[in-house]
Amino acid sequence: MAEPWFTTAFGAHYRALYAHRDAEEARRCLALLRGAGALLPPVLDLGCGDGRHLQALTAADGPLGLDLSAPLLAEARKRVPGARLLRGDMRSLPLRDASLGTVLSLFTAFGYFADDAENARPAAEAGRVLRPGGHWCLDLFDGDRVRAELGDGRPRPRDRSSGPLAVREVRRFDAATATVGKQVEVRPAPGQAAEAAALGISGDGLAYREMVRVYTLPEVDDLAAGAGFRRVAAWGGYAGEPLGGGSRWLLVYRRGAVQEPA
Ligand SMILES: C[S@@+](CC[C@H](N)C(=O)[O-])C[C@H]1O[C@@H](n2cnc3c(N)ncnc32)[C@H](O)[C@@H]1O
Repeated sequence: MAEPWFTTAFGAHYRALYAHRDAEEARRCLALLRGAGALLPPVLDLGCGDGRHLQALTAADGPLGLDLSAPLLAEARKRVPGARLLRGDMRSLPLRDASLGTVLSLFTAFGYFADDAENARPAAEAGRVLRPGGHWCLDLFDGDRVRAELGDGRPRPRDRSSGPLAVREVRRFDAATATVGKQVEVRPAPGQAAEAAALGISGDGLAYREMVRVYTLPEVDDLAAGAGFRRVAAWGGYAGEPLGGGSRWLLVYRRGAVQEPA
């Protein structure tokens, strides 16, 4: 069977493609969550990537990161020496029931799987590993904005270069599955063969198709409720914009005392 897209997309080249998603952005996001009292220790960064959010946590937060990508975990290890890092799948966490205070699912580390039942599994796992009163902080792109921009179903191509990589991306919304697909082709930029090869991108390039669920806010709330959560705070961006006033949905859910079946 073919590898799922998220094992290809989050390889060694991923950081070079999204270099603007940096430590400063991560710091602002966590400052907002901390200011609202959302960070209760121990804190799991679920889909921690290269560790940019872990870097902005303190020892008192009891930080722990989990990701599926070996190259990104290796970056996280360099970036946050001594951090507790686990390699695993967000659908089945190697952690005890009710053992955590916060689960972070940041920068759309959510909605990657084939159907809604599968996409609900990380939420159910967050509910399982959080103690009652614990928080699940979910940071998604604003689904209403994506529908407004791409809802007509027409493909949106874009060519760009990022560090040593030349990238062609074609985004397209599929109403039948409520997903946004992104066909990505990555090649070495002219004269950058050695630098690109160090990121795993040879002359042949790499092509894959990302597929991410585009939720409505009531759908996210329902999915969270199914895992025993109630929404207690929400912003539209990392500067604390109101919902709809930015490009993100940064949502804080609290786990109830009695967990409902997922
Ligand atoms: C969009 S990136 C966000 C990374 C990080 N939260 C950040 O803000 O930089 C999504 C992350 O989820 C990880 N991921 C994808 N599928 C996963 C899975 N099934 N289980 C665990 N991690 C996964 C990827 O490797 C990647 O690091």
